[in-house]
Amino acid sequence: MEVKSTKELHSELTMHSVRFAKDEQGRRKGQDVLFKWSEIEKKLGEHKHIYVVDARLGSNNHTHRLWYDVIPPHTEEGQDWRTLGHRHTVEAIIYFLKGHGHSIIDGERYDWGPGDLLSVPMFSWHRHINDGDEPVLRIASTTGPLSLALGQAVYEDERFPEFWIYAQEGEEARKTLIPGGGGKIENGEAGGNRTAEMYAEQVAFAMHEEQLRRKSKVLVKQKDLVFEPTAMGKLAYVVDPRIGCHSKALGVVMAEIPAGKRSGAHRHLYDEIDLIVGGKGKIIVEDKEYDFDTLDVLSIPVFQWHQYFNTGSEPLRILGINTRLAMDNLGLSLTHQGEHADHV
Ligand SMILES: [Fe+2]
Ligand SMILES: [Fe+2]
Repeated sequence: MEVKSTKELHSELTMHSVRFAKDEQGRRKGQDVLFKWSEIEKKLGEHKHIYVVDARLGSNNHTHRLWYDVIPPHTEEGQDWRTLGHRHTVEAIIYFLKGHGHSIIDGERYDWGPGDLLSVPMFSWHRHINDGDEPVLRIASTTGPLSLALGQAVYEDERFPEFWIYAQEGEEARKTLIPGGGGKIENGEAGGNRTAEMYAEQVAFAMHEEQLRRKSKVLVKQKDLVFEPTAMGKLAYVVDPRIGCHSKALGVVMAEIPAGKRSGAHRHLYDEIDLIVGGKGKIIVEDKEYDFDTLDVLSIPVFQWHQYFNTGSEPLRILGINTRLAMDNLGLSLTHQGEHADHV
């Protein structure tokens, strides 16, 4: 085996950082954009849970993933959860396409049907139950890749208590929405000076977060979406901290483009995965074009210009799931607006 000198090794490491962004542009250009429902449907016939956009399957998305799954009639997520369900330190949204059922999230019941969306508060125990005679078809998206990269991905599942990290520490640790367990907000108070105050704020942070998570919006009903004209076309924010959600990483918008019209063009420094929930159309991503239909999935590469066209006779509805909030919180958000939509 070739042994590198200290100088060679550490010079290479420096160049790795310098080269990375340029290499990454190439990976973005080469990444798969369009995932056809016809292919996904075939796989769902073989297995009830199919990952679609996922770095483990070659996607260049570093921050979130998306999968399709089916819950058979009168079963529970096909996974035999009966009490706690599971919980995780990744943010998650679920969008229901077909079927009816309910979820138990942090002890509360939420009833849902087609077009409804759940924003699951971080680290809350949750279960999803199909109450009907039809299969439930849904997609879910989580910030699993981001949490894994941070070394902070914890998935506790009632079926596998041997892998619990925090819940096994006792009844209190099982109820809290804070990995590691809660505590008392005033626990850090001591000293009576500005530094002590700042430290006390640090100790209280997690407990404040837990309160905000418990107050946050969980279920968004399709009928409550408010569409308004924007530079990108008709948009409704679905999951956003500015409308009552306590999301820190994952945001969701719904776009609607009338027949024959086009959206605006934009690019941004966050990953975006789109689910086509109605209609058909075309997307231009930089210098490439893709035709898509209802239930297809699009993975938009970071910082590439994209614009949507409704080529059908029905309204085109696109659910855009993005990690803009994660980038906001890292101070890395940037959105460039190009051509405006033609219907505002
Ligand atoms: Fe989950
Ligand atoms: Fe976008």
